Amino acid sequence: MPIPEQRTSVIVEAPAKINLTFEIIGLLADGYHEVSTLLHSVDLFDSLEIIASKASQNQVHLKSYRSSVSGYFPMDDSNLVVKAVRAFLEHEKMAGTTCEVEIGVDKNIPIEAGLAGGSADAACALVAMNEYAGGLLSEKELLSLGSGLGADVPFAIKGGICLGSGRGDRLENFGTIPDLDLVMILVKPRKLFVSTPYLFKAFDRREKIRRVEEKNSDPKERISTTVLARTALENEDLTGFIDSLSNDFEPVFFELYPEMQELKELMIELGCWKVVLTGSGPTMYGVAPNINKANLIARDLVADRMNNPDRACYKHGPVDSWVVKSNRHGAVLKSSDNEKGDDQI
Ligand code: C5P
Repeated sequence: MPIPEQRTSVIVEAPAKINLTFEIIGLLADGYHEVSTLLHSVDLFDSLEIIASKASQNQVHLKSYRSSVSGYFPMDDSNLVVKAVRAFLEHEKMAGTTCEVEIGVDKNIPIEAGLAGGSADAACALVAMNEYAGGLLSEKELLSLGSGLGADVPFAIKGGICLGSGRGDRLENFGTIPDLDLVMILVKPRKLFVSTPYLFKAFDRREKIRRVEEKNSDPKERISTTVLARTALENEDLTGFIDSLSNDFEPVFFELYPEMQELKELMIELGCWKVVLTGSGPTMYGVAPNINKANLIARDLVADRMNNPDRACYKHGPVDSWVVKSNRHGAVLKSSDNEKGDDQI
């Protein structure tokens, strides 16, 4: 067994994700929704440290938490990072080894924001545990463990750009497309939080009505925006690619939060090429022409709140923004006691 005898510290970081496209195409037997999505990593990172040692029984503690973002982060066993470490320790390949694991989380990805921050933390925990265990699990085994924790965890491990199907957790790599180099500005009203199950339920209610009104038209029969985006990428057609960026949640999301439609329009006015909801929101990403323009848009957004404090989009407090770029990888080892490095798993 390659588990070290001494107390070992491992630090891993993982990026936020956005959904370039997000199509909801049906219901799966387990109650989850079948989706088709183009997932993309952006360079906004959470970082996690584990300090692990062999012990007489498995013990997992979430010890420290530092954050640059607002939102609730449970410090007890309900936290996904604790579940991720426990899932790793309970893997059949770990049979016969018990460990004490202390976890510290450094958070920069907004919480409950549609950016898969919780999944990034869980991905960090799995990759860190695997490093501690000397690479005991294959990437396939790690992805499968991740999928049991949440639909976005496998992508947080892998990162870059992938097609997601099933619950969004069945990943397919892009083969030969050129690397994406997008500049985006993420925007989120500081005090607006949206629950994913709540939005899926609201979507289902709206979809039932839509199907009656449109004589039962099946989403599977529409032209897939994910396929359009993929084809445009393969053809290096930037205009076609940007046109295809979309999210099926948007109609119901804007019905529930019309102030977010206003924010979307404002971001276009300020110079974004396109503004789209990511996942179940409430964060939206605006595609910007370049980094200078993205920084100007962020600055103009702050000025707009001073000049127009009564706009509905400011009713949830200031609109926080992050200028980000495409990121090519998922969870990455930053340091370990035994070996310092920047290697991807
Ligand atoms: O997998 P994750 O924890 O992100 O999902 C949170 C909830 O969102 C699930 O419990 C489920 O109610 C809903 N969901 C869904 N279909 C998906 C992903 C999530 O219905 N593809």
